[in-house]
Parts: sequence; C-alpha cells; structure tokens
Amino acid sequence: MHTRRTWLLAATGILAAPRLLHAAQGPRLEVWRDPNCGCCSAWVEHMRREGFVVQDNVVHSVAPIRRMLGTPPDLRSCHAARVEGFVLEGHVPALAVRRLLATRPAGIRGIAVPAMPIGSPGMEVPGQAPDTYDVLAFGDGAHQPFMRFRGAEPA
Ligand code: CU
Ligand code: CU
Repeated sequence: MHTRRTWLLAATGILAAPRLLHAAQGPRLEVWRDPNCGCCSAWVEHMRREGFVVQDNVVHSVAPIRRMLGTPPDLRSCHAARVEGFVLEGHVPALAVRRLLATRPAGIRGIAVPAMPIGSPGMEVPGQAPDTYDVLAFGDGAHQPFMRFRGAEPA
C-alpha cells in the first residue's frame, strides 16, 4: 500500500526532484506577514524545511499585498505569498505547492487554505486533533478543491 502510494506520488512529479537538491536552490517563495504572527513564522519554517528559498517580508498590513496579488477576499487567512507567479494564501502545505508547480493547471492563479485549520503546517496545536481541510484553487471561474489534507498529511 505504501509502495503503491509512493509510486503514485512519484508519477505525478511530487517526488521527482531530490530534496537535497532543492534545499540548495529550491523554488523562491515571497511571504508577507504581520510581525506578531507566530503561526506565520512557523509556516515559513515549514516551507524552508521543505526546500523553498523564502524571502520573509514583515509588513504592517497584509491587506494591500492581497489586493496587489489579487487574492480572493473570501479565501483570506493570516499571510500572503507568491511562488513562481502563483499566489498563495494561508497555511498551504508544501506538498500542495509542489504539486501546483509541477502541474501548473490552466486557469489557476493560486491556491489557498482559508482561515487557519488546526494541524495545517504552522498551526499544530499539541493535544488537539488535526482538522480535515481543502486546499482551494482560484483563478478563472469558481474556486475548486485542489487537494485535501488532514493535518499535514494528504487525506
Ligand atoms: Cu496562521
Ligand atoms: Cu500566517
């Protein structure tokens, strides 16, 4: 079962690039966050651990950044980000970002995890069961489910 899943992941390109290679020169990620946001810093650490090269921008207000990026207001969370032309919002797992960059679906401008689900990367709460939540894709047309997670794991 595990082997089959590993093959599926490899087939979709998620594991195609060795992690060590990416640690040196992974995708460049720009983040904008509030100085007092602890969970935002935890998400930044998650992305760095997963090989992204993060430019961490501490800003007084993220709202103007979201307007600049064109983030749909109904998908709002605690921080905004951009990677290779795609817009991110909230505690999006690195695995979902990798998949976005590998597949680049037509009509998709970005992906978001609205609000702040418990157990999403950077939102781990000791002693609390992780939420199940959708990563949503936005762009042309209505938002679409992109991946589902329970905590940090695909569900
Ligand atoms: Cu947060
Ligand atoms: Cu945040």
